[in-house]
Amino acid sequence: MKTVPFTYGRVTERDDFTNRAAEIALLKRNFAAGVNTILISPRRWGKSSLLKIAAEETVLENPDIRICHIDIFNMRSEHEFYLGLANGILNAISSKWEEFVQHTKLFLSGLIPNVTFSPDKQTGVSFGVGWEEIQRNPDEILDLAEKIASRKKIKMIVCIDEFQSLTSFKEPLLFQKKLRSHWQNHSRVTYCLYGSKRHMLLDVFSNPSMPFYKFGELIYLKKINTEEWVSFIQKRFSDTGKQINESDAGLIALLADNHSYYVQQLAQQTWFRTKRVCNKTCIVSAREEITDQLSLLFATITERFSAKQLGLLHAILSGEEQLTSQSTLHKYRLGTSANVVRVKRGLIESEIIDDTGQELSFLDPIYKYWLETYFFKLKANNQTAESNINPAKKLIADR
Ligand SMILES: Nc1ncnc2c1ncn2[C@@H]1O[C@H](COP(=O)(O)OP(=O)(O)OP(=O)(O)O)[C@@H](O)[C@H]1O
Ligand SMILES: [Mg+2]
Repeated sequence: MKTVPFTYGRVTERDDFTNRAAEIALLKRNFAAGVNTILISPRRWGKSSLLKIAAEETVLENPDIRICHIDIFNMRSEHEFYLGLANGILNAISSKWEEFVQHTKLFLSGLIPNVTFSPDKQTGVSFGVGWEEIQRNPDEILDLAEKIASRKKIKMIVCIDEFQSLTSFKEPLLFQKKLRSHWQNHSRVTYCLYGSKRHMLLDVFSNPSMPFYKFGELIYLKKINTEEWVSFIQKRFSDTGKQINESDAGLIALLADNHSYYVQQLAQQTWFRTKRVCNKTCIVSAREEITDQLSLLFATITERFSAKQLGLLHAILSGEEQLTSQSTLHKYRLGTSANVVRVKRGLIESEIIDDTGQELSFLDPIYKYWLETYFFKLKANNQTAESNINPAKKLIADR
């Protein structure tokens, strides 16, 4: 057991991972059966961690399956995508750099690639090729996984994180058509495409006029439920010689709105403050500390909002149910109901709020708390010492 029992800010290892049994089983079943899968959830709910565990278990249970992970978050062009895809696939089937070089020669013979080593030759080797060269022969890379899989009599799972990034490439529709036309002919390769921009991903995968329409099974990742978090937190405390009762562990999940990253962060800060037995004061002051650390960032985000955006956030946080009623429009100076629709769309696109059809929710529970408590001052903060609030918070709260 590690000295600090909670982890956040990186993909979780098996030991730090809780629940998601149903999702793991579903992914494993799809991987083994060759069903393409699209996984969507807001940021930091646990997509990458889930994929990692499901992939590890799949490989253990199916020795003929290789998994390749590619993150296209920072990719800005088709060229970068091709290079990332080829490198990801070659790395997935090569355990040593010599193998990587051999595979490059064998499977990408139609291109003239250069292979670059990291200085120590141990940590990394990568393949590069010019854009013009790729344009002459894109099939070499687009069909690379299938070619390798059939030659080696294996199956491959290609997992692509932040898949919506390709909508920002030049001529995204044409590119998506090209990808789909190749990938739909692959019989030994299964694709798992995932990301956090729900609206962009939905447009890619569930709009009948888009090339990736009905490409695979669409899964919306849910939050981990409170009971799971409670037993996870209680066990982590007791394994390290501390105690937290059920109600307090539940309070951590509640204050973090069951958001995976924040539950772990709040649990960790609470654990630090707990000598032997946790009490509510530890949890509340841990939340203040996290809020305080983020306040400058929150202030910067909030300063960019227009008066109407702020008005709408204010109305939502005040519990107004009829956002387009005359009294709400008037009270929060929202103008017309058409404004509300437009402003709401903008806030959803910038991932501040989410509209699940039934309700509007805030994607970041600590930001929501900061807005309510320090910006709109709708709630008293739980700490008596107002001096705890850092100057940035004060500045914005006084606006
Ligand atoms: N099943 C889990 N059990 C415990 N903690 C989890 C679990 N899944 C995620 N977490 C926590 O949430 C954090 C974020 O997880 P992860 O990076 O997998 O999310 P993500 O959805 O891929 O995020 P991003 O959108 O930023 O890529 C992890 O560092 C960990 O603290
Ligand atoms: Mg991730």
